[in-house]
Amino acid sequence: MSDGSSFYITTPIFYVNDVPHIGHAYTEVAADVLARWHRQSGEDAWLLTGTDEHGQKILRTATANGVTPKEWADRLVETAWKPLLKTVDIKNDDFIRTTDERHEVNAQKFLQHLFDAGHIYTGEYEGFYCVGCEEYKQPSDLIDGVGEYAGQQVCAIHSIPCELLHEKNYFFRMSTFGDQLLALYEENPNFVQPESARNEVISFVKQGLSDLSISRSSFDWGIKVPWDDSHVVYVWFDALLNYITAAGYGHDDEKFSRLWPATHVVGKDILRFHAVIWPAMLLAAGIEVPRQVFGHGWLLVGGEKMSKSKLTGIAPSQITDTFGSDAFRYYFMRAISFGQDGSFSWEDLSARYQSELANGFGNLASRVIAMIVRYCDGEIPVGGDFSEADELIRGTEKRVTDAATLAISHLAIHEAIAAIWELVDDLNGYITAQEPWALAKDPANRARLEAVLVTAVRGLGTLAVLLSPVVPQATAKLWTALGGTGLVTDQRIDRAWEWSGGPRVFPLEALFPRIEATVG
Ligand code: MSP
Repeated sequence: MSDGSSFYITTPIFYVNDVPHIGHAYTEVAADVLARWHRQSGEDAWLLTGTDEHGQKILRTATANGVTPKEWADRLVETAWKPLLKTVDIKNDDFIRTTDERHEVNAQKFLQHLFDAGHIYTGEYEGFYCVGCEEYKQPSDLIDGVGEYAGQQVCAIHSIPCELLHEKNYFFRMSTFGDQLLALYEENPNFVQPESARNEVISFVKQGLSDLSISRSSFDWGIKVPWDDSHVVYVWFDALLNYITAAGYGHDDEKFSRLWPATHVVGKDILRFHAVIWPAMLLAAGIEVPRQVFGHGWLLVGGEKMSKSKLTGIAPSQITDTFGSDAFRYYFMRAISFGQDGSFSWEDLSARYQSELANGFGNLASRVIAMIVRYCDGEIPVGGDFSEADELIRGTEKRVTDAATLAISHLAIHEAIAAIWELVDDLNGYITAQEPWALAKDPANRARLEAVLVTAVRGLGTLAVLLSPVVPQATAKLWTALGGTGLVTDQRIDRAWEWSGGPRVFPLEALFPRIEATVG
């Protein structure tokens, strides 16, 4: 149902070595909700995710585990990263690994192109390198260590000492792109979003850019520099290129011109790589810059950024095993303003599950369907004696569809869901006020009863279509129960309110069953 316009969206590619936690799943879900929404808007939406597999950290862990880095990466992709996508119900169109031949060969083409065009030179570098971040650190990025590292300077993110490295490296002349980047941020204010991220990036670039060391020679787990195979490409330079190698750069021009440029969803911790280094690389190569870089906030657990190294990592399956993938998706997209930090707590998750999903949405669906079964033998009435209250519901359906569409256009996923929830609340209020069970007692009210039930069922259809990107499993079940034709994912989301009801309803199991066990 594509209308031809392309919406290419990416997640960061995850360090294959890490154990997937809810922070990683959060990024995946956000990008997936946006991709699903755009797919349902008739666009040629394409979601890319994958794994970042080169670099010193991976080499070290593989060696410690007695296997080659490639064997190590293969194992983790199959046992950890691909399963994560299933756990939180991601519908990605591709999965790129930086060890894929399509990536390695075309990343080399890119590099050679930059070298031939004079953007790369040989130099010497000495600096503090954090293997956790795979990045050279400035003195201002270091803090005083505590515990076993007391008396040393440690990386502020990983709390481990950095290594002083001195190497002959190849350098990318990034410093020459400062003015072009500032002009880009100025001319296209949406390029980096949200506003706080944009401001941070602008002030960083205004301080002046240094050239970037883009090769390493002290180890060999990486893509070989094409003109000097004693060097491997710096892991970030390699990783950023995934966004174009997966989209056909260097090997499928038709695909590349169809897909590129992309919208990149990334955590704010890796904003500079995406909003400064990446567009500078593309400008140097004469390739269009990304459409947008959106930096989302951190998930905080007990007030701290959740990360494996700080032992606060929660596996997504710990949540989905109890609450299901829909609840995971809904909770994180609804409870946290996309672009800001947000705290996770089991109490908040349980409370929202119960009040919003089970009582607010799930019960509404069950009650309406049960009443159509009881009062109309399951047949959805075609018309009735419509009143102003019914028209108000129709008005709400249109209004929230437009509001949610607008919110998604600036990636405000939380606002879109909040708008849709006005319809959930209005429908619940409408049923309480109209009392169909009371109308059913007197055959003289038949036309009014039918108007109320068809209004409610149409409202449910609109909700199924609008909520499909967020809670795909529940809405698929609801759509079937409403007798909707085709798949709910094939219904146009920007015209969600147009659905006028199928011939009859079918039994619906509880969309969000009661959870008895205490969790946490
Ligand atoms: N491999 C690089 C990215 C290369 S992209 C060309 C990397 N990987 S990562 O696995 O460490 O992190 C990837 C992303 O996971 C972060 O940008 C962020 O989107 C997400 N998160 C990791 N921890 C997170 C939180 N605690 N909260 C929210 N997102 C988090 O960096």
